[in-house]
Amino acid sequence: MIVLKSQREIEAMKKAGEILAACHKEIANLIKPGITTWEIDQFVETFLQEHGATPEQKGYKGYQYATCASINDEICHGFPRKEPLKEGDIVTIDMVVNYNGALADSAWSYAVGNVSSEVEHLLKVTKEALYKGIEQAKPGNRIGDIGHAIQTYVESEGLSVVRDFIGHGIGTVIHEKPDVPHYGLPGKGPRIKEGMVFTIEPMVNIGMFFSKMDANGWTARTVDGTYSAQYEHTIAITKDGPIILTDQD
Ligand code: MF3
Ligand code: CO
Repeated sequence: MIVLKSQREIEAMKKAGEILAACHKEIANLIKPGITTWEIDQFVETFLQEHGATPEQKGYKGYQYATCASINDEICHGFPRKEPLKEGDIVTIDMVVNYNGALADSAWSYAVGNVSSEVEHLLKVTKEALYKGIEQAKPGNRIGDIGHAIQTYVESEGLSVVRDFIGHGIGTVIHEKPDVPHYGLPGKGPRIKEGMVFTIEPMVNIGMFFSKMDANGWTARTVDGTYSAQYEHTIAITKDGPIILTDQD
């Protein structure tokens, strides 16, 4: 069942989204060679506390941290760790913020110092793909239109879209319907309606789209060892189109 949200519920989620966006903007300034994802996770805990919010991922299905921190070939659900980031790395910080019971979810990939032009291209295409997906998220379109726009663009740039992890409805729990794949066919899937709130969160690999799971049961990484990036926003559908609840601008 797809739960449609009232304007009031969307406003509440937007407040969570504003805190999350502000947190990402702070993280952008922290990321440099030498910092650890453990320190970033600690920073997020403190930042949310100071803003009267809580990290929804912590305790979710036994997950232990406020953030997911996925480095280089890690696709998603990497654990924060005490190993310093190095020049040329990329790291995706993903978190869900709870503010007064309303949630927002946003992941962002960051370059650590200078990265290769190939990795620069990966970051640029992945971010652009997110916005191409968002453009399709309007009443009357179908969920498949989002994935199709993302997949077509990413593949035209010679990169691949991860299949094993997808976007999702979100409200008072992290994962609701609808499922939002970042690949697929136009005109397929549920019709997009005013009041839907869901994430779009393409994960894009330089090489093949296949993922494998680490022994920790959480962290997914590319099978071929190529780097993977991700950008995620939580969006609400209005009659005039999407609004980005986690917008950083
Ligand atoms: N933020 C993730 C998403 O985009 C959810 C991660 S669940 C966790 O779907 F338990 F790993 F934190
Ligand atoms: Co997320």
